[in-house]
Amino acid sequence: MDDASTLIDVKEYPDTEVQKNRVLTLEEWREKWVDGKIGFHQEQGHQLLKKHLDTFLKGENVLRVFFPLCGKAVEMKWFADRGHCVVGVEISELGIREFFTEQNLSYSEEPIMEIPGAKVFKSSSGNISLYCCNLFDLPRVNIGKFDRIWDRGALVAVNPGDRKCYTDIMLSLTRKGFRYLLAVLSYDPTKHPAQTVEERRNGWP
Ligand SMILES: C[S@@+](CC[C@H](N)C(=O)[O-])C[C@H]1O[C@@H](n2cnc3c(N)ncnc32)[C@H](O)[C@@H]1O
Repeated sequence: MDDASTLIDVKEYPDTEVQKNRVLTLEEWREKWVDGKIGFHQEQGHQLLKKHLDTFLKGENVLRVFFPLCGKAVEMKWFADRGHCVVGVEISELGIREFFTEQNLSYSEEPIMEIPGAKVFKSSSGNISLYCCNLFDLPRVNIGKFDRIWDRGALVAVNPGDRKCYTDIMLSLTRKGFRYLLAVLSYDPTKHPAQTVEERRNGWP
């Protein structure tokens, strides 16, 4: 995606101690949803994905598309409307319910047997399944392999110490010929040392 990459001034910055200590717990993520502090949510969806969607899909039909740390991303509906099968994982049950309600989709819910206390929410049409659990518990469940992964606000939201485990899980979910589209942001962490957990709680990133 040449256009997208030319828009970004890509530099690599080393991890710092500052970054390593930027940790949010699952409870803190859930609280963000309850408090409506979801500045990361894009009501109109991601404009670069919209622009490059056809390239990403490569004209293929009935793909399995995975949304790690999906929130209530409206892009899930874009894929489902084109006949693809969408699977997401999100720790906030509230976020998942808001997705179905705001997209006017009826749904059912059932427990995930392999993960005590977790649930999967399925659209009545059957082509959207959202797992409400910790992504790091997902390997206990057989959710199959995927042709496409749209990773926006996921890798970048994972606590730095969990990134290796995260990428191992993502790779384990890919099918031959897959495409993985990753939206990242690049910044010099040494220039933003003052951001505290409290500040992260209040917005994005
Ligand atoms: C930055 S938001 C991005 C949401 C979505 N991808 C979007 O583009 O709007 C990260 C989401 O991941 C969820 N989350 C964070 N850690 C998680 C984990 N370990 N397992 C499942 N969901 C998680 C949060 O509740 C939050 O909704």
